Amino acid sequence: MRLAERRQGLDELLSAFRELWHPQPFREIRPEWCERWPALRDELLALPEADVAHLNDDGGAALALLARHVPGLTGVAGLAELPKMPDTEPPGLNKRWAWEIPGRKQRQIEAFAVAAQGGDRPILDWCGGQGHLGRLLALAWQRPVHTLEIDAVLCAAGAGLARRAGADQQFVVADALSVADWPRAGQHAVALHACGELHRRLIREGVGKGVARFDVAPCCYYRGVGERYQPMSGDGRLVLTRDDTRLAVTETVTSAPRETRQRDRAMAWKLGFDAYRRAVSGNEYRSFKPVPEAWVRADFAEFLARMAEREGLPLPSARAAVEFEERGQQRRGEVMRLSVVRHAFRRAIEIWLALDLACHLAENGYVVVLGSFCERRLTPRNLLISARLA
Ligand SMILES: C[S@@+](CC[C@H](N)C(=O)[O-])C[C@H]1O[C@@H](n2cnc3c(N)ncnc32)[C@H](O)[C@@H]1O
Repeated sequence: MRLAERRQGLDELLSAFRELWHPQPFREIRPEWCERWPALRDELLALPEADVAHLNDDGGAALALLARHVPGLTGVAGLAELPKMPDTEPPGLNKRWAWEIPGRKQRQIEAFAVAAQGGDRPILDWCGGQGHLGRLLALAWQRPVHTLEIDAVLCAAGAGLARRAGADQQFVVADALSVADWPRAGQHAVALHACGELHRRLIREGVGKGVARFDVAPCCYYRGVGERYQPMSGDGRLVLTRDDTRLAVTETVTSAPRETRQRDRAMAWKLGFDAYRRAVSGNEYRSFKPVPEAWVRADFAEFLARMAEREGLPLPSARAAVEFEERGQQRRGEVMRLSVVRHAFRRAIEIWLALDLACHLAENGYVVVLGSFCERRLTPRNLLISARLA
């Protein structure tokens, strides 16, 4: 399927079903769709805990459940399914290239290098951290590499690793959001998990300067987005708020069980505080500043007292603390169940965002392929936009 066709299809379906994925059950106790689709709501609220975890993680299964209640949804799954990029053996290099890289990161980088495929251009590794990807490409493709990175400490560490491995790799300490003389015409720009505006600026600037090839695996789409996402291509009608673009990257597929438990507890406690606030100052959600992690390690009564003080609310009694801790737990269960609905659209929104960049490149004369470069268990941010100037 052509990129523009896929984008238009997703644009139409996501716009049509906005009422399902836009409302956040964390903020809205019962999103409006609960009234329109009561059987869906009841089925979700009755789900056993194990199914909730599975459905929040598996977008395809969540879409299938929704499609039993909501007509017209079936097209979303097909549009959210992308081809896997070519998957050959990783470059056969001496393992020294990978000194100090954790196993999963190393496999991500190798998969990226395989999918990006070698070329004859000088390489720019954009927001490269210690330049692990750049180092692998310098060795595997035998091309000179510049790694651009804002953090001078990472650059110094990376330069040491490059020397040890004998890679032709230079580091440029620069701010990717304002640097004027990178990227350059004729380069092959690679970016593995450059967040939000960092990858968007690479593409915008690179197109203007005549970069020959791009291989970009985006992440954290919401970074640098104002109130609304500003599309770079096409004339679609989908409107995404900053929070909607955050939805694209909320899954926790790589969390350890302990992190999951901590996240559940933090969510329950915040919802317990939200319930307390609704009880004492009006029944509507109001956002609050980030909660210091240490506060969620104390006991709930202490947490609630600290939050109440910070947010200018009356201090809760000991009895209130017991009551709202329970309410928080109960609301967490409901939020997780009702969130299955918005999580069903997560991958479709992410693909729409990647297609926006891919179509911008295609509109500017590049031949573009969009696919996944590795298994989701290695990283859920596994989309790769691969473009070459025609
Ligand atoms: C998620 S890491 C990815 C690093 C590397 N590409 C990788 O996959 O291992 C994002 C990197 O972007 C760098 N970064 C953040 N803001 C930047 C900026 N304004 N200019 C250049 N680099 C930036 C960070 O320091 C970090 O090393």
